[in-house]
Amino acid sequence: MLIKTKKSWELSENEVTNEDLFNKRRQFMKMGGVAAMSSYLPALSWAAADHLANQIALAPTTRTLDEKLNSFEEITNYNNFYELGTGKGDPVKNADELNTDDWSIEVTGECDNPGTYALEDLINFNDLEERIYRMRCVEAWSMVIPWTGVSLSTILDKMNPNSDAKYVGFETIYDRSNPLSGQRSRVLDWPYREGLRLDEAMHPLTMMAVGIYGKPMPNQNGAPLRLVVPWKYGFKSIKSITKINFSKTQPQTSWNMAGPREYGFFSNVNPEVNHPRWSQGSERRIGELFRRDTLMFNGYGAEVASMYDGMDMSTNY
Ligand code: MTE
Repeated sequence: MLIKTKKSWELSENEVTNEDLFNKRRQFMKMGGVAAMSSYLPALSWAAADHLANQIALAPTTRTLDEKLNSFEEITNYNNFYELGTGKGDPVKNADELNTDDWSIEVTGECDNPGTYALEDLINFNDLEERIYRMRCVEAWSMVIPWTGVSLSTILDKMNPNSDAKYVGFETIYDRSNPLSGQRSRVLDWPYREGLRLDEAMHPLTMMAVGIYGKPMPNQNGAPLRLVVPWKYGFKSIKSITKINFSKTQPQTSWNMAGPREYGFFSNVNPEVNHPRWSQGSERRIGELFRRDTLMFNGYGAEVASMYDGMDMSTNY
């Protein structure tokens, strides 16, 4: 007999989302959040932006976590987004540099439907859901963030990857003739690049996010759309995506190119394998006093470990 046991993070349909979040969203809608937030959404026509902001605010919570959420202020003021500067406070300070007008995403490579897509062509706004995930940065700090978005697989399915598609590569905005201020420094080889194996990209936990706390994605967090891969170090979760490419071979990735001994392609959170310059055994949860132990696969092992069966996990992949 098949008995379906409910996982700790699953919600039954009539369970209401975390009350605090729910109230914040209502308040946001009441304040005329759509008009207030539409500056985040110039990529879309007014009507589409209005629809997206509404759908983000109303997206049902499909995944909870029994850990305290970080505040909106923490999540949007302590960031890594090197295109907007290397300091944790630089991205919010320089957020206005990122112009999301007429945003489009170019899809290339091993798929049946390459082309240039607008946000609303990639993401069905009616399918948006909110999921609360841990995020663990390779620098050994972490947060708990309520993201709004869709499974990346719903986007990739539209492209119909062919049988040669083994990997998916992503790139962030980069205009060589008009770089963002952080891109004037050679700290990374721009554009920021990331990639996943196709099965990782298609995994139901992998998300393309367009909002946080029921609000459209702030620029400093990667507007208008960014990846969220919660079992990997945060640098895999590339922000402000402009390109998606399906390939036969493993794509080059920015941090791996910058420091191959320090940042592997897979970069699954692993407390057993230290960074050459610091321990990965524990982490500082932003807002907490004491360090906490880092969990294998950032606590998502039951869902993702089988993808790595037979793989040597003792090195810094
Ligand atoms: N994406 C781009 N394009 N540029 C970046 O510098 N930093 C990464 C990742 N995505 C980064 C990026 C790193 S190191 C982390 S930890 C997360 O974004 C941080 O996401 P957050 O600022 O929303 O918390």
